[in-house]
Amino acid sequence: ETIEWDAEDAGKSGYDHYMLKEIHEQPTAIRQCLSERVTELEGCIDVDSLASVSVPDRVQFVACGTSYHAALYGTRLLRERGVPATAFLASEYDVDAVPIGDDALVVGVTQSGETADTMGALRGANRVGATTLAVTNVVGSSAARECDHAMYVRAGPEIGVAATKTFVSQQIALVMLASELTGEYGDELVAALRDLPGKIQSVLDASAARGIATEYRDSDAFFFIGRGYNAPVALEGALKMKEITYRHAEGFAAGELKHGPLALVTDRTPVFALVTGGSNPTKTIGNVKEVETRGAPVVAVTDGCADVERHADFVLEVPESHPALAPVIANVQLQLVSYWVANQLGRSIDKPRNLAKSVTVE
Ligand code: G6P
Repeated sequence: ETIEWDAEDAGKSGYDHYMLKEIHEQPTAIRQCLSERVTELEGCIDVDSLASVSVPDRVQFVACGTSYHAALYGTRLLRERGVPATAFLASEYDVDAVPIGDDALVVGVTQSGETADTMGALRGANRVGATTLAVTNVVGSSAARECDHAMYVRAGPEIGVAATKTFVSQQIALVMLASELTGEYGDELVAALRDLPGKIQSVLDASAARGIATEYRDSDAFFFIGRGYNAPVALEGALKMKEITYRHAEGFAAGELKHGPLALVTDRTPVFALVTGGSNPTKTIGNVKEVETRGAPVVAVTDGCADVERHADFVLEVPESHPALAPVIANVQLQLVSYWVANQLGRSIDKPRNLAKSVTVE
């Protein structure tokens, strides 16, 4: 008796798609990213590859797509620690228009290390004498070679075109980067990093995402709102939804809802509201009430905020964590919703139409 198999299916280790496999690999990806960099015994974050990077006066991130969302998350981590930081879409970065000099650290966040727009921005930064750092998943990639320094996110190979585990690894790498550059982190953050893989595992084991996908897969559009650390997660939630379901989706900082997008909200546009500790629940709940009034279904993605749950049709639970890390967990819930919507619509999940894993033209 012979068993039919092909290499492609074997690579998926029993999952229907690489994307789902990679979503489930996130606890491992985080452990790899933290390994030998966060020593709990000493309550210490110490990244070898950053040892010779001096504390910059300011940081400019350059990135595209999902990596840009990680960069936005990174700016907040640095600003909270007193370092002025800005994230640029690499395609909009122009060293002649953005004043930089040798006091700036320019950080290219790029999974592949090959994205043409990001490479162009990094070359420009090097030309004007900035210190450059690549935060990348690929050892020896063009970005790693172009930059003065390289920090690897260690997610392992990602086959699905839509980035999942590499995004989580970029977020964790940037937590370590911000902590190491400024020396600002406490035992609480170190402990929360240690607990993060387990908390993400608990989401993977018991998410309500599949049922929510069944309920809303035929919606006209999906909206995602969040504040603070949750704002980039809202953007990423919408990008994932667009990429793999081909449905209209938009993510924005919750405060922007009233400045335009509210005109699109109907009873056929579910709104995913990210509300986790420290992200100003009162204001976001105000936004939720606005969409509720227009009849929009509300999905609360929350770590137990009863006030938002009261207004929600469904809840996606986020285990409590450090204020900077709860949004990292919330993102996993959104990945699962997009995956299940795409799965139920029969989309080409691992290779969405028109998209490439790595875009090497400008
Ligand atoms: C492509 C991929 C996206 C990715 C972006 C940036 O558009 O489809 O998933 O976020 O490139 O890629 P990078 O390798 O620079 O992170």
